[in-house]
Amino acid sequence: MIVILEFKFFLKRRIVYMKKLLGIGVLALGVAFSGSALAADGAAIFKAKCSPCHGAEGQGTAMAPAFKGNAFIMDSKVEDITAVIKSGREGAAKKYKQFAIGMPAQKTMTDEEIKAVVEFQKTLAAAK
Ligand code: HEC
Repeated sequence: MIVILEFKFFLKRRIVYMKKLLGIGVLALGVAFSGSALAADGAAIFKAKCSPCHGAEGQGTAMAPAFKGNAFIMDSKVEDITAVIKSGREGAAKKYKQFAIGMPAQKTMTDEEIKAVVEFQKTLAAAK
């Protein structure tokens, strides 16, 4: 009888412990999700979507112009840079004839992602 009671007590403590663990897990998940939802990470977006053409440090490649020291990026209003990212710049609209391809319109990016990547581009452009 005592053995059974002790076993029940042991089980109960384990359940309380598991509930606590679960609580901490849910809390951690919540923090991770709210973090990514609140602030789009300009550097990460740039790395994933822009660096293949514009270079890992924005130094430019054989396919696309550099952002480092780029007067258009440094001097333009955020809205004008946003427009290039949203609509792209291809065909007759192209500014740099030395690159065979144009800037593809980024149709799947949210406004917040574009804002974050424009801010990041501005820091790349101003980097010495
Ligand atoms: C497939 C290659 C490619 C990808 C990917 C790409 N770009 Fe471009 N981008 C170009 C090319 C080529 C140009 C030059 C277009 C021209 O001739 O005007 C350009 C031009 C630009 C310009 C105008 C620069 C200037 O000096 O006028 C901006 C701003 C820009 N890209 C931002 C981005 C951002 C932000 C991303 C990622 C979300 C991105 N690009 C991804 C190829 C690319």
